[in-house]
Amino acid sequence: MVKKRIYATRSLPGLEEWARQNGQYDVQWNKESRDLTAQELRDHAKDTDLLITMLSDQINQAFLSDNQHLLGVSNYAVGVNNIDLNEATRLGIPIGHTPNVLTEATAETALTLLLMCSRKIKKATSWVEKGHWTTWEPQIFNGQSLHGKTVGIIGFGRIGQSFARKVYQLWKCHILVYERESAKRNECDFPFQVVSPSEFHKKCDVISLHCPLTPETKGLINEDFINKMERPFILINTARGACHIEKDLYQGLKSEKILSVGLDVTEPEPMAKNSPLLKKEDCIVLPHIGSATQETREKMTTMCLENLVAALERRPLPYAVVDPFKS
Ligand code: DGY
Repeated sequence: MVKKRIYATRSLPGLEEWARQNGQYDVQWNKESRDLTAQELRDHAKDTDLLITMLSDQINQAFLSDNQHLLGVSNYAVGVNNIDLNEATRLGIPIGHTPNVLTEATAETALTLLLMCSRKIKKATSWVEKGHWTTWEPQIFNGQSLHGKTVGIIGFGRIGQSFARKVYQLWKCHILVYERESAKRNECDFPFQVVSPSEFHKKCDVISLHCPLTPETKGLINEDFINKMERPFILINTARGACHIEKDLYQGLKSEKILSVGLDVTEPEPMAKNSPLLKKEDCIVLPHIGSATQETREKMTTMCLENLVAALERRPLPYAVVDPFKS
């Protein structure tokens, strides 16, 4: 019998081992540590039955309509803004992703950025590294205490709630949720308030983004939003880079409307090497490592493979976004 082919557009933790243990599939992957070009992606897609894609792979309408032979695609991410879900639905191509498993890791990354921003860690470490530390200083690098601060959450799904729970438990922060939210609010085990944008602008000391990229959230943190903020605030984005406008963040930092920025995501990715934000000591940029713990990344591999095996067997995907087999 001809083996079904699985192709992953990057090398993934645990994939080689899985391939060894599941010899009934022909598993291949991109062995270089770089994204495939659009043409390379098409070439590989043509020769495979099932695909594991990264959030940097554009699985758009044209790609899907040219690759209708695909029996399933699983994104190695919870976000699926790189995939045209309408087209996949129309063509009946199952699409999976990796929810839940990366909730804690991503919320921890947001928390790390928040602590680094509030305590001016980038400035302090670079000062030490430059050899400026000569004595204990009472008046330098005094940051903001987080205890009792008002933390605004945009995107109150699993990750947003996990982050909010942590800042509530650690520092009794007041949690404000940006009005557009329709999350399952009753299930929360900590207090929070859903407020209008104007209340949000008035009260937040910290804003953390955990929303998917949609037409509504694209460019949400822009000059207008920043100017409406009534207090200097810390901005954390571990969601998608396109939710903020980079040059407006830069201006916000310059005018001190924004105290500090912590980004795990940028637009584009990677961030331009000459981005002025990189020169600012009140801006911390991580290379999109929200979900990067070994355990999480291994589990994400397994989840993608479970999705693809289910798609192949024409049964509901365990972690589905588009599922033609769901009854
Ligand atoms: C996701 O899963 O959407 C993250 O951004 C990547 O881990």
